[in-house]
Amino acid sequence: MKILVLYGGRSVERDVSLVSGKACAEALENKGHQVTLFDLQEGVPALLADLQAERPDVVFNALHGRWGEDGNVQGLLNLMEVPYTHSGLLASALAMDKVMAKRLFAEAGLRCPEGLISDRQSLLAGDPVPRPFVVKPVREGSSMGVVIVRHGDNDLPFSKQEWGFGEEVLVEPYIQGRELTVAVMEDQPLAVTELRPRQGFYDYEAKYTDGKTDHLVPAPVDPAIYDQAMDMALAAHRALGCRGVSRADFRFDDRAEAGEAGGLYLLEVNTQPGMTPLSLVPEQAAHCGIPFPELVHWLAEHAQC
Ligand code: DAL
Ligand code: MG
Repeated sequence: MKILVLYGGRSVERDVSLVSGKACAEALENKGHQVTLFDLQEGVPALLADLQAERPDVVFNALHGRWGEDGNVQGLLNLMEVPYTHSGLLASALAMDKVMAKRLFAEAGLRCPEGLISDRQSLLAGDPVPRPFVVKPVREGSSMGVVIVRHGDNDLPFSKQEWGFGEEVLVEPYIQGRELTVAVMEDQPLAVTELRPRQGFYDYEAKYTDGKTDHLVPAPVDPAIYDQAMDMALAAHRALGCRGVSRADFRFDDRAEAGEAGGLYLLEVNTQPGMTPLSLVPEQAAHCGIPFPELVHWLAEHAQC
């Protein structure tokens, strides 16, 4: 197939996308496809010209974050009638907006941390919920702008001028415990991975620096929890109407004394999960006997618009 790999762009996850895109392009070439790379930073008019000149059979979407993961590029490709990988416009927009996604997860009976929408000014005036709590930009990925506010913290990043993630934020209680993730490939959850950052939490640095986080796949959790995470990931993928591959992230409070508050909490679904050499979807696929080139080839073959 003639495949245009869309990558880069202008989101705060640009650098991650550059790595994802190159990895996918190389794997698609190894599978015998005719591949060109297009950096969305060149702009939409250049993309339209390229699509018209090249007429690819498929656009492989390797973008992350704003414009590439939030329905915008998907809408443009729908209008151009070019099949593309991963989720469509609506699922992308819903998953990217953590507030809207939570509403749909609640409707599907999937437990998430209680969330409230706030803004930086209100947070500076006082804590909206007891500490520890988590502050997240409503529409970003890769833990960009995520802050855990603990007892005694007072030099908070969102109080600074250079905070670049907008005024609106989502506040959630911090869920004690462990970090789990599950990739879903169409109608099949792949595996549960536990992420154990060597230091701090699974933030941007822990995600993309080799050696900063231990990945345990299959996650060493009780089989009932393992199965529940697999089921919840598939239900979340379906609740948003995702296509192709997605990845659901969880917190697991495993303290016996937590009682009913213990157990699994769904944090979010990523419709354009990372495809870098340190990323979790390729690792789970490999665990299931699907090498990286097969995974990207499968995504290209399942492209739709
Ligand atoms: N947002 C990053 C790319 C991920 O979820 O893997
Ligand atoms: Mg995310």
